[in-house]
Amino acid sequence: MSEPVQGAEPAGRLVAVANQKGGVGKTTTAVNLGAALAEAKRRVLLVDIDPQGNATTHLGLGQAQRRVSFYDVLLQRTDARSAVQATAIAGLDVLPSVVDLSAAEVELARDPERNQRLARVLEPLRAGYDLILVDCPPSLGLLTVNALAAADGVLIPLQCEFFALEGLSMIVRTVDRVRRMNNSKLRIEGIVLTMYDRRNNLSDQVAADVRSFMGARVFETVIPRNVRISEAPSHGQPVQLYDVQCAGAIAYAHLAREYLARLGGPDRRRAA
Ligand SMILES: Nc1ncnc2c1ncn2[C@@H]1O[C@H](COP(=O)(O)OP(=O)(O)OP(=O)(O)O)[C@@H](O)[C@H]1O
Ligand SMILES: [Mg+2]
Repeated sequence: MSEPVQGAEPAGRLVAVANQKGGVGKTTTAVNLGAALAEAKRRVLLVDIDPQGNATTHLGLGQAQRRVSFYDVLLQRTDARSAVQATAIAGLDVLPSVVDLSAAEVELARDPERNQRLARVLEPLRAGYDLILVDCPPSLGLLTVNALAAADGVLIPLQCEFFALEGLSMIVRTVDRVRRMNNSKLRIEGIVLTMYDRRNNLSDQVAADVRSFMGARVFETVIPRNVRISEAPSHGQPVQLYDVQCAGAIAYAHLAREYLARLGGPDRRRAA
């Protein structure tokens, strides 16, 4: 973990990257935005709560580096700090996932406070980071609800395709419900349009529809469909390490700047 900047208040902002729809760019956004925020000198932790473990793989962690995972943390078998691993990007740490996490839903079923588990177990980590990004699975089950119940904000990646709006209203309703029942501070911090293809009229139409429905909550920055983005995970690298000059890396760097400007507040750049 990197040292906090002297004199700066640590923010420990917890942000869920969520959409119940599969394959819309949640993991890609959590990893590459996380890396871009770290390159903008923020202390960033990515928590992989998807049993698929795609973010963990994308960040280059092999099986040996997942022996202690978010699963152990959630079941309170270990403390969160000892499960955190550094990545190849300075300032970006990861709390890895394992496939066993898929059993968590059943294992926690009898706990009356099961929706608050994630908030409780990650609390000790907050002071060590400016931003904690939580990569959610493609469902609105217990794991995603835990992330929403703990979060200050939600980022919703949305693929520029025909059914995008349908999926959007479902996640917006869920966020509203969690805000009412568990977490009054929760707000949608932004909608990220992903896999945008400028040669495709449908991409433009979807982007326009989402903007008219959600207004200023949609980021100006749009993530293009970019082959380097889709190649980077198999090399175990964020796109910034894989090909810093590609359109995808540039777009995520823009998104990081836009997001930080949107958050406002003091400059929390870490010392190194
Ligand atoms: N901008 C992009 N350009 C090209 N390919 C992309 C882009 N964004 C994501 N992809 C690819 O699309 C696929 C789905 O992306 P990703 O895994 O990020 O979605 P997800 O929402 O996390 O999926 P799941 O719901 O399964 O967790 C991946 O193969 C990824 O590499
Ligand atoms: Mg994913």
